Amino acid sequence: MRLDKFISNSTDYSRTQVRRAIKMGQITVNGHMAKSASQNVNDDDHISLEGQHIKPPGPRYFMLNKPLDYVCANKDSEHSTVIDLLDEIRQDQLQIVGRLDIDTTGLVLITDDGQWNHRITSPRSQCDKVYHVTTSEPIEKSYAAQFEQGIQLESENKPTLPAFLSIDPNSEKQAALTLREGKYHQVKRMFAALGNHVEALHRHSIGAIELDPNLPCGEYRPLTQAEIDSIQ
Ligand code: URA
Repeated sequence: MRLDKFISNSTDYSRTQVRRAIKMGQITVNGHMAKSASQNVNDDDHISLEGQHIKPPGPRYFMLNKPLDYVCANKDSEHSTVIDLLDEIRQDQLQIVGRLDIDTTGLVLITDDGQWNHRITSPRSQCDKVYHVTTSEPIEKSYAAQFEQGIQLESENKPTLPAFLSIDPNSEKQAALTLREGKYHQVKRMFAALGNHVEALHRHSIGAIELDPNLPCGEYRPLTQAEIDSIQ
């Protein structure tokens, strides 16, 4: 990789700033002053910027507790985005793993590891996602069998995959729904197909990764190694 790319990937220096730092003699490669931004370097080279060792960038994995009114996009001309909530460099390289609607809250995973993202979001993965749903009308017991059988949603050519509903014993308008896929507005459309309306939606988990109960709304934290490794 080119030296300027290596440093701009690993720090908040732009390539122009790297070139300037090279001219000012602030960058060394294996103890020798760097001469050219296009010099090729690899992970075994010892690169320093103003005397600080620069480690090659590793993949990053975060969980975020998404608030209402934020969109799951890297950039948006109208609304704040979940990426705006992160204090991280190289934001353009971050990917949102399975988007939530603007009015949905809860667990959002963010990474720059495309393969890890794909292992969750690929239709073949059938990774469980648990949503907490609040509806306008009581949730009838019969919904459970219908969701398990599959619902034919408008403009889809196949019914939904089996989904599992657990109605809150203390509230007939609240339930947990486990999905193994992620069609556009899926939860809202499934309830609408049965004549009900989703008033609030919150994602609780993706696979074995549960939203950290100590993570306030709008905050994020890196995933633990066990959480990262739980996605196979
Ligand atoms: N299903 C929905 O309808 N909306 C979401 O944000 C996620 C799942």
